[in-house]
Amino acid sequence: MNVIVVKDYEEMSKKGSEIIADVIKKNPSCTLGLATGSSPIGTYQNLVKMNKNGEISFKDVKSYNLDEYCGIDRTHPQSYYYFMHDNLFNHVDIKEENTHVPYAANGSNLDEEAKKYTDALNKVTIDLQLLGIGGNGHIGFNEPGTPFDQETFVVKLTDKTRQDNKRFFNSLDEVPTHAMTMGIKNIMKAKSILMLISGVNKHDAVTKLLSGEVTTDFPASVLHNHPNCTVIIDEAAFRG
Ligand code: F6R
Repeated sequence: MNVIVVKDYEEMSKKGSEIIADVIKKNPSCTLGLATGSSPIGTYQNLVKMNKNGEISFKDVKSYNLDEYCGIDRTHPQSYYYFMHDNLFNHVDIKEENTHVPYAANGSNLDEEAKKYTDALNKVTIDLQLLGIGGNGHIGFNEPGTPFDQETFVVKLTDKTRQDNKRFFNSLDEVPTHAMTMGIKNIMKAKSILMLISGVNKHDAVTKLLSGEVTTDFPASVLHNHPNCTVIIDEAAFRG
């Protein structure tokens, strides 16, 4: 695991976007695994700028998102489908048909959709998978205890995760109880992994991650088993 400590969120986003831009420049038809949440927003903003100034093109880039809430429609401003369009897809030249977000809206057959997502993932190779980390060590929505050989599935979110994500909703009651997520096995198949960690509230997670112990109790620890994983941590998250 290659650990890079940077000054703040802005520097993390700069470094993060440079790493992703390099992957796109080397292989303009690469496949990216993408994340939502607060951590990648600045990185996406930089990628939008690089696309607008002609430095990179998403014309032939394909993307697969990590996860999606169950039971809210894609038009819901807190759906991850909406987030990705709002923060990246609507502002770059990526083709809609090349973007993929798990489908878990009201009325969908969740088990069937999860299987379809795994089948789709098994047909591609993700060149770079972008990740954030949950306060409890989750990656995607693989909560503590998830087996490392898990593929895309529907997960019951922990109270901690729902509390952490309450900030995006009007109340805790509105935070979905379940999500569909790529499994740890799907994530670990990526050729390279880039994790972004920022803010003092991630310090405990950073301490556990950097302890080096690999355990299903702390899902992100599996990244120690990946041959090409870079973690960018800002000083607040690193020092606490
Ligand atoms: C998002 C995702 C989650 C987040 C994690 C950190 O697609 O899969 O694992 O990366 O919850 O979220 P933020 O970045 O909001 O702190």
